Amino acid sequence: MKIIKVKDQAMGGQAGFAQFKAALDAGATTFGLATGSTPISIYEQLTASDVDFSDKTSINLDEYVGLGPDDDQSYRHFMQEHLFDAKPFAKSYVPNGLAEDADAEVKRYENIIDENPIDLQLLGLGINGHIGFNEPGTPFTEPTHKVALTQSTIDANARFFADEKDVPRYAYSMGIASIMKSKNILLVAYGEAKAAAVAAMVEGQVTEEMPASILQKHDNVTVIVDEAAAGQLSGNVEMTDFAG
Ligand code: GLP
Repeated sequence: MKIIKVKDQAMGGQAGFAQFKAALDAGATTFGLATGSTPISIYEQLTASDVDFSDKTSINLDEYVGLGPDDDQSYRHFMQEHLFDAKPFAKSYVPNGLAEDADAEVKRYENIIDENPIDLQLLGLGINGHIGFNEPGTPFTEPTHKVALTQSTIDANARFFADEKDVPRYAYSMGIASIMKSKNILLVAYGEAKAAAVAAMVEGQVTEEMPASILQKHDNVTVIVDEAAAGQLSGNVEMTDFAG
């Protein structure tokens, strides 16, 4: 793993933007995208730039079950607001939260991933080490699937909803196996709350109890962290400072 340390989330946006730019320059056509607060500064940089995704494809990691594109808490809505309205892709895939047949939906989505191999997958990190919505205990072999969210994830995401009771209890998520098919992976984490998960991901045992630890087994992973998120890494970990 290549670790890049930034001062704060704003600078992380610049460092992340540089990774997207490098991927585009190298001929990337398909981008795996993420939601949550972490990617926002990267999307701001992309939106403010002259990058053009109009002949590219995007595939998002996950979506809440039960929320449609018009629901302002849906991840499709988030993506429209933070990226797609300003920077449309030729094709943007997000799981269909309103799908009637969950089994068919997860198969359909995994086929999309297989037909459009992801050149660069952007990931945030849950405080319990989840990536996408792959909670601790998820088999590393799992493709796209329906997930029951853990209470810790429901609590962490409650800040986006009027009431904790409104947070959906299920989501569709790319699986760990789907994520690992990506050619390059860019994981971003900020803040002290992520520090333990970052250390376990980079230096801990590779275990299904810490989903992000599987990234140690991928050849092309870049991690962007701020000081606080890097706070529990040992001195053995090599880091590059990104100064803008
Ligand atoms: C949610 C998303 C993840 C995201 C995580 C962290 O659970 N499904 O993709 O990485 O939240 O969110 P944040 O970036 O807001 O800390």
